[in-house]
Amino acid sequence: MNQRPRRNRKTSAVREMVAETHLKKEDLIYPLFIIDGVNKKKSIHSMPNCYRWSLDLLLNEIESCGKLGLSNFVLFPSVENNLKDKKATYSYHPKNFYLKAIKEIKKEFPDFSLMSDVAMDPYSSDGHDGLVIKGEIDNDESIPILCEMALAQANAGIDIIGPSDMMDGRVGAIRETLDENNFINTSIMSYTAKYASAFYGPFRDALNSEPKHGDKKTYQMDPRNRTESLVEAELDEIEGADILMIKPALSYLDVIQTLKKNSNLPISAYNVSGEYAMIHAAAEKGWLDYDNTYLEVLTSIKRAGADIILTYFAKDFAKFKN
Ligand code: PBG
Repeated sequence: MNQRPRRNRKTSAVREMVAETHLKKEDLIYPLFIIDGVNKKKSIHSMPNCYRWSLDLLLNEIESCGKLGLSNFVLFPSVENNLKDKKATYSYHPKNFYLKAIKEIKKEFPDFSLMSDVAMDPYSSDGHDGLVIKGEIDNDESIPILCEMALAQANAGIDIIGPSDMMDGRVGAIRETLDENNFINTSIMSYTAKYASAFYGPFRDALNSEPKHGDKKTYQMDPRNRTESLVEAELDEIEGADILMIKPALSYLDVIQTLKKNSNLPISAYNVSGEYAMIHAAAEKGWLDYDNTYLEVLTSIKRAGADIILTYFAKDFAKFKN
């Protein structure tokens, strides 16, 4: 035998030397949930160690994440039902606590990057990402609402707009709205290939944003399709996206690789709530080793081609690396 691949695995030092994939804290974006009020830290049943924070406590949490070496965050609002309506008007209301929080966080931590969520579901009485008219999600009537939401977030000082709604043409419309209002440096990380997935369940628990009727299959992608992700990617590029996202991550590693090979833009992947919950559940039962399992998962997402990973494991990873 001339070739003995095991020689490159013989010691830890050799394995480090030949390792092809290196996961860094800088690659990660940590998702955080916010609720209105003061001194609140509400647990999320299906997402152990994740909380819905009021702003005062959230600022402390961000500070402690910063000390661990994290500097990228994405913020999601959990909104009371009485503030929800068909047109998601609370999403751009001047007194919206989410917009106030963006302003405060950016004031306290100007060097951290903060990403938003643009979609109607956290504010919609229908629980859909777009406007429901006669039982259907109306694409073109949703766009102005999404633009107004994005503009309000830009006004509050957000660094990166994250349209997660999957309406056609929304990236271009948001880009135009931002530019017209002189927010030329506000970035867009588009949820480019977002699939109609069963893995969002725990997140919808956290936000109480489950659709009131029907599902999201007329706007989110069909899990059977990969080539279609190229159509979405091409459109998002033309429309002005700065970063393309694939979501979920673990069941879509092939899609991550496809977009990485076919785009020159940075690629991100969202390691979603259900992917987080299942590792926690198995570890709780003693069936999987927690640290080793999530490390393998995050590494595989990076190996598949993701430059950036949105993950609820970010804080545990940062602690692990310290
Ligand atoms: C909603 C949105 C969802 C997630 C992020 N933004 C859920 C959905 O589309 O129903 C899911 C994130 C996760 O599961 O961690 N626009």
